Amino acid sequence: MFSLKSLMLSGAEVWPLVEGGKGISVSTGATCGAWARAGAVGTFSAVNADFFSEAGKLMAPVSPGKTWGERYRELIAQAIKGGVSQASIAHETSCGQGRIHMNVLWEMAGTEEILHGIFSRAKELIHGLTCGAGMPYKAAEIAAGYGISCYPIVSSVRAFRALYKRAYHKFCEFLGGVVYEDPWYAGGHNGFSHQEDVHCPEHPYARVVALRSFLRECGLGTVPIIIAGGVWWLSEWVDWIDNPEVGPVAFQFGTRPLLTQESPVARAWQALLFSLKKGDVLSMPYSPTGFFSSAVNNAFLQELRDRSTRQISCQDNASPPYDIYFPLENGGEGVYMDASGQDQVHNWRAAGYTVPLRTPEKTLLFVTPQKAEAIRRDQTSCVGCLSACRFSGWCQTQQGAIREGDPRSFCIQKTLQRAAHGGDPSEELIFSGTQAYRFAEDPYYANGFIPTVRQLVERLLTGY
Ligand SMILES: Cc1cc2nc3c(=O)[nH]c(=O)nc-3n(C[C@H](O)[C@H](O)[C@H](O)COP(=O)(O)O)c2cc1C
Ligand code: SF4
Repeated sequence: MFSLKSLMLSGAEVWPLVEGGKGISVSTGATCGAWARAGAVGTFSAVNADFFSEAGKLMAPVSPGKTWGERYRELIAQAIKGGVSQASIAHETSCGQGRIHMNVLWEMAGTEEILHGIFSRAKELIHGLTCGAGMPYKAAEIAAGYGISCYPIVSSVRAFRALYKRAYHKFCEFLGGVVYEDPWYAGGHNGFSHQEDVHCPEHPYARVVALRSFLRECGLGTVPIIIAGGVWWLSEWVDWIDNPEVGPVAFQFGTRPLLTQESPVARAWQALLFSLKKGDVLSMPYSPTGFFSSAVNNAFLQELRDRSTRQISCQDNASPPYDIYFPLENGGEGVYMDASGQDQVHNWRAAGYTVPLRTPEKTLLFVTPQKAEAIRRDQTSCVGCLSACRFSGWCQTQQGAIREGDPRSFCIQKTLQRAAHGGDPSEELIFSGTQAYRFAEDPYYANGFIPTVRQLVERLLTGY
């Protein structure tokens, strides 16, 4: 019979079951508190989360500022309020049970300021910090300063080794665990290295054992590894549990918690999840963070893929075979293309893709006038949510755009906010793990059943 033992995480004995942090506003104080109340670990996202207004109403961040700098300052102030608001909801909902973790994206703008802002106001409500996407060198130091455990999210031993050698060796006492997030299966941003092939998944066992060996070398053999990505039924992971080679483990779920009564995802998003088939979730390279990410292959993703196919190489100066001059709009200098490029452009223009947009990689992209307008509007209304944005060219340290924006990408802030606040899930970025098709196959969800978080935790404890 399947059985799971409790584990010490962030200073309390809990079920080794962790709600994966999901921004923007998908894992919230309400979901996190419910996971904690069920005796597990809840995680709210502090990435531009909804915050309590002065009137006590939860509201989504807004950005009326006129300049880039003004909008950025508003974003930081609201992100701090959002983190504190969600921490207090999680705390109240948990009734003192389980553990409450907070998740941030290291590549978001102003992370350090936001972490200090939230922790200085709500440190007694938060037990752990999980942080991924990028190399969160400073996260451990900041969390340790407030007595909070840190859980770096890595996708390989190589990434953890770099974090440990540069910074984490000084804060081992506060290393609550290491999240191994499988880049081939997990929803959201994926930490592929240059050595890994997005299309050739590696088995996670050897990768996790390598991580455990390194933890042992560092004297951290008892620090739990939290396995994230592709975990559905724990009965499929029995070989990993109580296995001395793997050591203490917990399991993190990102996709399954999307379908719970407490989850804020809209009905249309729930329906989409029930309709997915194997292969409907794809890894895509268009995120403005520069990372790959796993999302549902919907109209939003298809438009990005199609957009990138309408792209030709060009050069600023004529040199064979790039010797056909192509004038650009707005009085800019023209470019040179080759004969096959000219043919493609002719066909795209005939189909209505009449506006050429330069990319930073010396290519021209062709879009409709409406799409060109939408891209420009999104770039100019950038609120600076990332430390560096490929789409708008924004850079936090310069408080403005330092490079040409890339029209093959998109404003992730805008689409994730819309998705979380009732936008049409076929028209927005819908992050998902590759196992989402199992909602339609798993008998637990028959007839559209959606459990409460407590019911889901109880179900997971059965191994299914
Ligand atoms: C909708 C969605 C949004 C996510 N957003 C984040 C995020 O903001 N930060 C993060 O560290 N991980 C994020 N993740 C990853 C999850 O926390 C989790 O590690 C991952 O989904 C686990 O794999 P699974 O989807 O197979 O369960 C997200 C996942 C999903 C499905
Ligand atoms: S354009 Fe980039 S930095 Fe600006 S708000 Fe959108 S995603 Fe964030």
